[in-house]
Amino acid sequence: MFDSIAPRYDLLNRVLSVGLDQRWRKRAVEALQLDRDARVLDLCTGTADLALAAVARYPDASVVGVDFSGAMLERGHVKVRRDALQRRIQLVRGDATRIPLADASCQAATIGFGIRNVAQPDAALAELARVMAPGARLAILEFGEPRIPGIRTLYTWYFRYVLPAIGRRVSKHQSAYSYLPASVGTFPAPAEFARTIESHGFVTVRAVPLTLGIVYLYTATRP
Ligand SMILES: C[S@@+](CC[C@H](N)C(=O)[O-])C[C@H]1O[C@@H](n2cnc3c(N)ncnc32)[C@H](O)[C@@H]1O
Repeated sequence: MFDSIAPRYDLLNRVLSVGLDQRWRKRAVEALQLDRDARVLDLCTGTADLALAAVARYPDASVVGVDFSGAMLERGHVKVRRDALQRRIQLVRGDATRIPLADASCQAATIGFGIRNVAQPDAALAELARVMAPGARLAILEFGEPRIPGIRTLYTWYFRYVLPAIGRRVSKHQSAYSYLPASVGTFPAPAEFARTIESHGFVTVRAVPLTLGIVYLYTATRP
């Protein structure tokens, strides 16, 4: 699915979120609180927008982006080359449940809108705990559902009907943008997902609502 929507993925992100998606990524990167050179893992990196946000925010950091979609990574490569960042961003094809990195080799990790798509999220979290060094910070962005009743109704209408219709038309993929609201609907509630992160040994786990809860930023530390 991601291979086939890759050509229009960035455009649709900007349009469907009215430009908010890049702000959410900046918030995630900010939460890493890196104060020195660090190696950051961006899991489910897709077209590398979160990896690009990380190197823009932390001039001494380098990023390894991992994703199993070759076409998404290819779009990422184009942007990395465009910005001459080949020395700071490495994009690797791999599975989130078998991260191709050594134990304790990353000083921070991010996942932007990816954990919901991973078939075995627990296996991915266990892998993150393995590759993150003690003290490393984790920042995960995932969609949520606004809690304010009127806003929730309006947003649900947009998310269930308007977004899939625009997504279908622009991406030419019949189901990818219907899958989006469906998968968000089955994703655990923020408190539950925070407990799942904790169950993998992470500490100081927080779930912070962004933009009225449309998105949640989960932060945690590897002890
Ligand atoms: C919605 S995109 C998010 C891309 C990017 N992080 C962003 O912020 O736009 C989800 C990505 O997760 C990747 N993905 C899903 N399951 C995966 C897995 N098991 N291993 C690696 N990548 C996976 C998909 O290929 C896709 O590129």
